[in-house]
Amino acid sequence: MNPPMIQNQVLLAPYTTLRVGGKAEYFCEVNDTAALRAAVSWAKTKGYVITILGGGSNVLVSDAGVRGLVIRMCDSRVVFEEGDVYVRVTAHAGTILDTLVGDTVTRDLWGLENLSAIPGTVGAVPVQNVGAYGVEAKDVIESVTVYDMASDEIRVLTNEACAFGYRDSYFKTAEGKSLVILSVTFLLTRAPNRKLSYKDLVEYFSNTTEPSLLEIRRGVTAIRSKKFPDWHTVGTAGSFFKNPRVREVRYQKLCTLFPELPGFPDGEGMVKLSLGWILDHVLHMKGVRKGHVGLYEKQALVLVGYEGATAADINVFSTEIIDAVKARTGITVEREVQMIG
Ligand code: EPU
Repeated sequence: MNPPMIQNQVLLAPYTTLRVGGKAEYFCEVNDTAALRAAVSWAKTKGYVITILGGGSNVLVSDAGVRGLVIRMCDSRVVFEEGDVYVRVTAHAGTILDTLVGDTVTRDLWGLENLSAIPGTVGAVPVQNVGAYGVEAKDVIESVTVYDMASDEIRVLTNEACAFGYRDSYFKTAEGKSLVILSVTFLLTRAPNRKLSYKDLVEYFSNTTEPSLLEIRRGVTAIRSKKFPDWHTVGTAGSFFKNPRVREVRYQKLCTLFPELPGFPDGEGMVKLSLGWILDHVLHMKGVRKGHVGLYEKQALVLVGYEGATAADINVFSTEIIDAVKARTGITVEREVQMIG
């Protein structure tokens, strides 16, 4: 097996939506499983650490860069298997998620429309259990095909085996780290299945009884464009932090201090809090800017890196946010964005 073209000292910032950070010691792009296998084998022989990169929309690359080999997944083949009611859609890891969503909507397939206009590639979708506007990836994923770098095997994980949680999955665990996602199989339906209970969608469609699939895609895209900066022009990774989950009793106590604090029942006696609301209404940090970094003026959960920002700037600023929330509310906040290098 010949490894794909491996480059030396490649700047990673252009491969991420935050657009900061240093170089990969070694870097390659792979378009199929054979190339991936060859690249992994090459790195193993040399004893290099391997880092897998998708669309780079949820990562913060350190200024010092990344040691070892960074492999960018570029296979964007999509296969549709038609059934009577359900249609199985297998998209390879390098498929742009929003292109896939657009294609499924054009083909009149329900399931992915609420995930419109999210940056990134399909390979990251199960890792993060990407979710938006009342739908999580786990609701539509049937299985995930992976390459296990440890055993050199290809395996298929069922939805259950992926152990999906809120922005969480088996792929984030120590055991799951050796798995590279090759493709994701979604089970979509021809029968309309509108998921419109998320507050923003209720408001958006208040005058429409049964919006079409395309109308829902357009609605979600319009809502997002009002809340999120355009990642083509501004450094951003969407929500930089996770919404914290607390016990019901803790939520009740917090409500005595902050009566309007939004909380959403999240199973097992837990409540998910809106950190954006806390940053906005408790800490008054929406739109705050410190040097080259800030919180977006229309959505406080979104960190923005302006021209000249470094990974260190973003790191320091995000730590200040985490500390400020802790000091004011006692709530522990975690970053959603994955740190690399
Ligand atoms: N809010 C404020 N001020 C703000 C931001 C939010 O008051 O500056 C309030 C909103 O009015 C609303 C509540 O907080 O009552 C929740 O806000 P929103 O609906 O915008 O959602 P979010 O909790 O901030 C989450 C996801 C997003 C996803 C949206 C829509 C996380 C970490 N983020 O944001 O996902 O698009 O819901 O479903 O769970 C991402 O993960 O990168 C991401 C963008």
